[in-house]
Amino acid sequence: MLLLLPLAVFAKDQVIRIVPQPESIELVGGTFKAIGAGVNCDAAFDAASRMVAQDFAARMSLVTGKVSSFAVPFGITASVEAGKIKGFVFIRDTRLADEEYRIEIGRKSAVVRASGFAGLRYAVETIKQMLPEAIYGRNGAVNADWYLPCAVISDKPRFSYRGMHLDCARHFFSVDAVKRYLDVMAVYKLNRFHWHLSDDQGWRVEIKRYPELTLIGGYRSGTMIGRDFNSDDGIRYGGYYTQDQIREVVDYAARLGITVVPEIDLPGHMLAAMSAYPWLGCSGGPYEAWHKWGVADQVLCAGKESTYEFLENVLSEIADLFPGEYIHIGGDECPKTEWEDCPHCQAKIAELGLKDDDRFSAEQYLQCYVTARMQDFLAGKGKKIIGWDEILEGELAKGATVMSWRGVDGGKEAASHGFDAIMTPTSYCYFDYMQSKDTDKEPVGIGGFVPLEKIYGFEPLEGMPEGAGKHILGVQANLWTEYIATEEHLQYMLLPRLLALSEVQWCCPENKDFDGFRSKLVEHELKILDIMGYNYRRLD
Ligand code: ACM
Ligand code: ZN
Repeated sequence: MLLLLPLAVFAKDQVIRIVPQPESIELVGGTFKAIGAGVNCDAAFDAASRMVAQDFAARMSLVTGKVSSFAVPFGITASVEAGKIKGFVFIRDTRLADEEYRIEIGRKSAVVRASGFAGLRYAVETIKQMLPEAIYGRNGAVNADWYLPCAVISDKPRFSYRGMHLDCARHFFSVDAVKRYLDVMAVYKLNRFHWHLSDDQGWRVEIKRYPELTLIGGYRSGTMIGRDFNSDDGIRYGGYYTQDQIREVVDYAARLGITVVPEIDLPGHMLAAMSAYPWLGCSGGPYEAWHKWGVADQVLCAGKESTYEFLENVLSEIADLFPGEYIHIGGDECPKTEWEDCPHCQAKIAELGLKDDDRFSAEQYLQCYVTARMQDFLAGKGKKIIGWDEILEGELAKGATVMSWRGVDGGKEAASHGFDAIMTPTSYCYFDYMQSKDTDKEPVGIGGFVPLEKIYGFEPLEGMPEGAGKHILGVQANLWTEYIATEEHLQYMLLPRLLALSEVQWCCPENKDFDGFRSKLVEHELKILDIMGYNYRRLD
């Protein structure tokens, strides 16, 4: 008997519920006893991949109280073909793409195929979601019988960039809180963590060359209260990550298959840096890390060479700390009022021969110069830049990637001109926006309205000009933290919307269905979040 049911697949009394929905699931009848089954891993995998299999065996043993042995036997493929290996078998199959995997569960063995680390990780996440929720806990299932339905699952993601952002500048979150954020991203197969590390209200990453960035710029002497822009609590607030802590987070993320994309937002959103080094600004200050939210008029002076020297020194250390290919250089919300009156900026504009035209001002072209110079500098370190969609205003050098936040038009424009783009429009992807219109019952927030259904319904390629879709690398949601001061509130804003995001990022449109998704949440996923200890918003 062969059953082909794309969204809810039943085996005996079992239903396969996986978020994000795999590309294909075929039930073939029968069950596989998972408890106590050994884990056999192909020696052809690298050490990091073997660790994924070994960690799975250890987790099975921990939660079931029955040992799942781990072995790396020789000639694994031949043994499987001869039917000689039982239990879980992880085989390296170089025909599969990086993030692709295949699971064939028979009565005696569950064979997983992947070409390397990423595919293997996703296969294990899929298997964990097929098991009882207790697999995510510490000790839940002693003496239970755990069976997997015999099935063939083939899967790979729709988009290669599946991001989640976190603003640690407006409010600071501990290394442990960041790790918990990464943990839940990993369950849902996200692979990029966009870490917003600097803003007007705080500088959060230790830079050895400029210690006062964190010692002074890491703290503000007060914060507005609630939504009252005329208030100030007068309480010193701040914190930062040492370089050792940054490396710890980067390594932790890598083990979860997540690459960290650091953001140093420039040339706007720089007041905290300017409070430490006032010569960075047009007027020379003094400046103070901001107490309130919004867009500050004071930005880096783009006329002085000392600003570029500073940025290059900072970005050098950032490039050394973060091994990923991308560095995000911000570029959003940079008012030009100070540049218009600054003799240094105006001299630079004259030197470069920049002129107003009918589309953009000379000052906007000056920002393009800043962007291009940083892009060029980072290219020398083997890095590519991402910038918010404002970097499209004027001229953009080839090779830059655009993050489309003011709607999707920036992404479409970028892609149609051959730039890679990542979709993160406010209307679907801003997880600081409210989850209900009944805002009295919600924690204080920035406003807006992005409920679960809304993010789920996002189709990133809708209306994409012909041939441009291939430049859309993927989708990301952003979590700005002006109004989010605690980890509990942070998780509440993240979850369960992250799960809807994961289906937008992973699934082809024909494999999506909101009602089916919602049932998976009710019947399985929210229990996973419970057992992992997350705070999430209850479904309406
Ligand atoms: C942004 O929300 N300012 C990128
Ligand atoms: Zn200036």
